[in-house]
Amino acid sequence: MKVGVAKESAPGETRVAVVPDTVRRLAGDGVDVLVEHLAGEPATFGDAAYEEAGAVVVSADELYREADVVCKVRKPAGEELGRLREGQALVALLQPLTDPELLEELARRGVTAFSMDAIPRVTRAQPMDALSSQSTVSGYKAALLAAEHLGKFFPMLTTAAGTIPPAKVLVLGAGVAGLQAIATARRLGAVVSAFDVRPVVKEQVESLGATFLELDVEGAEGVGGYAVALAEDQHAREQELIARHAAESDAVITTALVPGRPAPELITEEGVRGMRAGSVIVDLAAEAGGNCAATRPGETIVSGGVTIVGLTNVPATMPVHASQMYSRNVQSFLSLLVRDGELELDFEDEIVRGTCVAHGGRVMTEARA
Ligand code: NAI
Repeated sequence: MKVGVAKESAPGETRVAVVPDTVRRLAGDGVDVLVEHLAGEPATFGDAAYEEAGAVVVSADELYREADVVCKVRKPAGEELGRLREGQALVALLQPLTDPELLEELARRGVTAFSMDAIPRVTRAQPMDALSSQSTVSGYKAALLAAEHLGKFFPMLTTAAGTIPPAKVLVLGAGVAGLQAIATARRLGAVVSAFDVRPVVKEQVESLGATFLELDVEGAEGVGGYAVALAEDQHAREQELIARHAAESDAVITTALVPGRPAPELITEEGVRGMRAGSVIVDLAAEAGGNCAATRPGETIVSGGVTIVGLTNVPATMPVHASQMYSRNVQSFLSLLVRDGELELDFEDEIVRGTCVAHGGRVMTEARA
């Protein structure tokens, strides 16, 4: 069986789906690995490193022709889509909740497609959870971006030139990315407070040395530990209370998402106006529309003296570890699809079934439930 590692074509994408270390492990399991020429280059993994690990470096034509399973980070587009063929399996971040047309197209082509962002959140699937691994990268980087754009120190300093108070950082959404942002901002010495609509995270926030804001806003936890959207009155109340806390913060890092929906707006235009000049908002939800009304996805802007970072695809700013972690997710997932070096799909397995978005000419619906 041949696993193909395709080069990413999306603008600004620097990650690669499989790193040389994983090639070594796959080869050990009796799988042949084909790597598209220069696939790992933007993530600093050159062709020679893949060859050394036991892969064969090939052209794009050969890769899509020969591979039984094509591994990618981003969903296929344009030429890539045209190259996928009937009976071939695809493993990538396909965003099945927001891109149903792609699933139709993959089904029409007879591709068996697995979406790494639809891995069910069960304990056995944790090593495959690509949303978690990439959110870990984003959360860490968000704290660094906040520190970089703030014209102040994060830690408290006592120096001969005077005493500097620590920066105040507010983190909204304390899922995987939010918790990592809290941990990183704390390591840099900031005083951190956080809020999430899922009350169960209070303890996790506090164990990282941050304060959990009691906003008296009631949210709920849905399937897989994800949040469900707030009722309208609760949402308005949340915006009002957050505005008060944001006004006292030096930096606000927003990470709130609700699967399959636009990101909830947590900071209104008025909320931004209420913040001090020089404050920073890092909006990790920019790709899903943003948690801040003033965010411009893909841009960093200054509005009324407040810097708003709307960077999209934050994991691509740290391609080495983002790729390494994603690659381990892919390898763990592939171990479910491969038996004795051959592709064997077991749809009785809830992870295989839950992750499959197209098979046998049909769109599979479980991953979109
Ligand atoms: P996510 O990326 O979908 O959302 C980020 C955070 O935003 C969530 O914590 C959510 O509650 C919060 N949020 C949504 N609407 C909000 C609002 N209006 N105001 C404030 N916060 C809001 O979630 P993520 O980080 O992917 O995972 C959420 C949870 O899933 C984790 O904290 C964990 O409990 C669970 N999980 C379970 C795993 C497993 O069992 N294998 C693996 C990873 C996560």
